[in-house]
Amino acid sequence: MLVHRSSFSQSLRMAGLLPHSPLLKLSSSSLLRRSHPSVPFLYSFSLSFSSLAAKKQHKQPPIAAVLEIGGVKIAKDDVVRESDPSNNVPDAIFSKLGLQLHRRDNHPLGILKNAIFDYFDTSYSAKFVKFDDLSPIVSVKENFDDVLVPADHVSRSYNDTYYVDAQNVLRCHTSAHQAELLRKGHTHFLVTGDVYRRDSIDSTHYPVFHQMEGVRVFSPDEWLGSGVDATSYAASDLKKTLEGLAQHLFGAVEMRWVDTYFPFTNPSFELEIYFQDNWLEVLGCGVTEQEILKRSGREDSVAWAFGLGLERLAMVLFDIPDIRLFWSTDQRFTSQFSEGKLGVKFKPYSKFPPCYKDMSFWISDAFTENNLCEVVRGIAGDLVEEA
Ligand code: DAH
Repeated sequence: MLVHRSSFSQSLRMAGLLPHSPLLKLSSSSLLRRSHPSVPFLYSFSLSFSSLAAKKQHKQPPIAAVLEIGGVKIAKDDVVRESDPSNNVPDAIFSKLGLQLHRRDNHPLGILKNAIFDYFDTSYSAKFVKFDDLSPIVSVKENFDDVLVPADHVSRSYNDTYYVDAQNVLRCHTSAHQAELLRKGHTHFLVTGDVYRRDSIDSTHYPVFHQMEGVRVFSPDEWLGSGVDATSYAASDLKKTLEGLAQHLFGAVEMRWVDTYFPFTNPSFELEIYFQDNWLEVLGCGVTEQEILKRSGREDSVAWAFGLGLERLAMVLFDIPDIRLFWSTDQRFTSQFSEGKLGVKFKPYSKFPPCYKDMSFWISDAFTENNLCEVVRGIAGDLVEEA
């Protein structure tokens, strides 16, 4: 199954939207800042609060008319064509093209990608070739036919996939690059990229997310003499590799393998890990269908493949409660993550944009903080609290 709404989300009990914060906050950092030498003192404090005006300042950035991905120039008109009935890409989706969150070393998705790269580099002495700026515009053939997705599969519908025109789509999985890279002769590779699926939006679903695909091809001399058949040989290597990856990312966790179905692998498995009282599906994988290898001119070989969703893993590893946060340009989000730091726990912040107002006034000797707080609460109510 091409997992369109991954069952992973069902096992994740996400905390919902960002926690509501008080509408008005008194910042204690500047409380009692006495900036005037004489008595009575000058009393200063900061208010951070939301207002309609502040929200209005939070505009969408303008959409670039032309962008470049992996050296290929893509114009907006190439992707969004309102007059073409075979095109269903809206502006909002085009605006995500080229952002490549997975290529930012300080972004949780980039940090996770690099941690996975480190694991493969260490375990396979840098044998895996990495691709992370292949264009997300692929042909229907690459996205579906080359990986044996049946002609009547629901994922091919206009309802589920973004079509640029009748022959081209925004890739709905990184598996779209498998066949071409095999044809080019690659035997060990990782493809990371943004993928697109028409879907509703909530805290665990977004129509653009990121995947990493891994493929390893074995030649006969690798399994001959092992005492097991090619498929069993590849399957056991696959499981060993991915169990090692899960351990590298999560530490000593409980794991289990679940049999499943994908059009491109046989047998197919899902790896689940036990995390915070739940079994979480972390990836899909299997032994590559022989037909795919045959069409790529490698019928003598056997291969394994896996595909994992970076957001799902990053949400667990960094404690990020809402998938929409990955797209945030708010400093309160971006400043929390830095290169090489996997698993730093996200600290929630107000869902309102920051807006600071300093106020100062003269006080007499009779002033106490409690008196001030009572005056403020008398006007603004119990939502006010010290920051
Ligand atoms: N393409 C699958 C998806 O998006 C994920 C996947 C599963 C990739 C198994 C693979 C694989 O390479 O072997 O749901």
